Amino acid sequence: MPVEGQLGEKRASLESLHAMALRGRSLPSAFVDVDAFDHNLARLLLPASLHGKQVRLATKSLRCPALIERAVQHSAGLIRGLMTFTARETLLWAERGAADLLLGYPPGGLQDAQWLVQANRRTRAAVIVDAPQHVTWLASAARTAQVKIPVWLDLDMGWRPVAGTHIGVRRSPLRTPDDVVALARTIAEEPFLELAGLMGYEAHVAGLPDDGRLASWQNPLKRWIKERSWPDIVVRRGEAVQALRTAGLVAGNWSCNGGGSGSVDRTAQDPSVTEITIGSGLLVGHLFDGYRGLDLQPALHFALAITRIPTPGIVTCGGGGWIASGSAGADRLPIPVWPVGCTLLPVEGAGEVQTPVRLPEGIAAEIGDAILFRPAKSGELAEIFSEYAFFSNGAFGAHVATYRGLGWSAWG
Ligand SMILES: Cc1ncc(COP(=O)(O)O)c(C=O)c1O
Repeated sequence: MPVEGQLGEKRASLESLHAMALRGRSLPSAFVDVDAFDHNLARLLLPASLHGKQVRLATKSLRCPALIERAVQHSAGLIRGLMTFTARETLLWAERGAADLLLGYPPGGLQDAQWLVQANRRTRAAVIVDAPQHVTWLASAARTAQVKIPVWLDLDMGWRPVAGTHIGVRRSPLRTPDDVVALARTIAEEPFLELAGLMGYEAHVAGLPDDGRLASWQNPLKRWIKERSWPDIVVRRGEAVQALRTAGLVAGNWSCNGGGSGSVDRTAQDPSVTEITIGSGLLVGHLFDGYRGLDLQPALHFALAITRIPTPGIVTCGGGGWIASGSAGADRLPIPVWPVGCTLLPVEGAGEVQTPVRLPEGIAAEIGDAILFRPAKSGELAEIFSEYAFFSNGAFGAHVATYRGLGWSAWG
């Protein structure tokens, strides 16, 4: 049997186990298979431990402190800190006592800089910059409070194989060693800012599955991009770090962050990188399926109650329209995974208040039964559900609070 088939069968039996264990529980509910989570963690940490790198956890891809803390505790010291996604959220983590925070996105104003000042009164909370305006806000807030803020530069890793092209995400304008050195000098002039690192996130490698489920005709092109752009990534990240060293701008406590869950095996081998970011690969939203060589297991599911049976063969569940961010398309919808063979209806998709599902031939279901789904992305479901139930060894256990359950709002 081909590997895919075996994997599919293993998943189906796991999902049937989940479905059986759900009997009698209140619906809807979201749950984390912690055995799968621990398996994914061990797999994602492996390349870092083999190549002597550290790891940073992307909080956006979990948004559940109990899970984030579990990963840190089970990492045998490999996870050195968290990559947060807003200044407010960074402060919440500082107040919770987390050490070594890096806000992986630049501040949007003085208020963000002030939140970072507050975070730095409690812990070390660095922030990414890529423009003089970011430096101005941070320097002003830090000077006023007489508190030091560690600052990292963001190097754009997009691939430009031919003039006028850009393959990758749109993040930083800093592309060349000269660009990073110029902004680093501006930072060095500020007594309350400390240049502490450089991040080069290769999104066009880390974020592209090799065997995407939809639009599979694009898969060979994606694999080609990943393969062919890799040398450019290693060279440009290395040149940027070297230029900062030559300019005398790299001090002792220096870090270089790269990668994401989808690139751990490659990024761990880049000599300039000191730490790798992981996140999505722990819970594995279905957009994270199809990375060759990464045998990750889906760890996050939600179960909806069938509330109506509008016609034989179609059941309608309460809720479900939790669509993932990104370029809008069918791939952002959750997918029903149990009973095996269920599908969404193309005209309705997953709805704001209800989600119809077509049952496979020969499968009957009743009002009150559960349909199991996987979300497209890993983190966003934690903004919908207040808690996740832990599932391990065939049974449900503790319930843990998500950001929503804790009342944590990253955005205001
Ligand atoms: C700055 C940065 N680093 C790393 C990642 C990869 O995170 P994950 O492993 O959750 O895909 C992301 C994802 O968007 C990111 O924005």
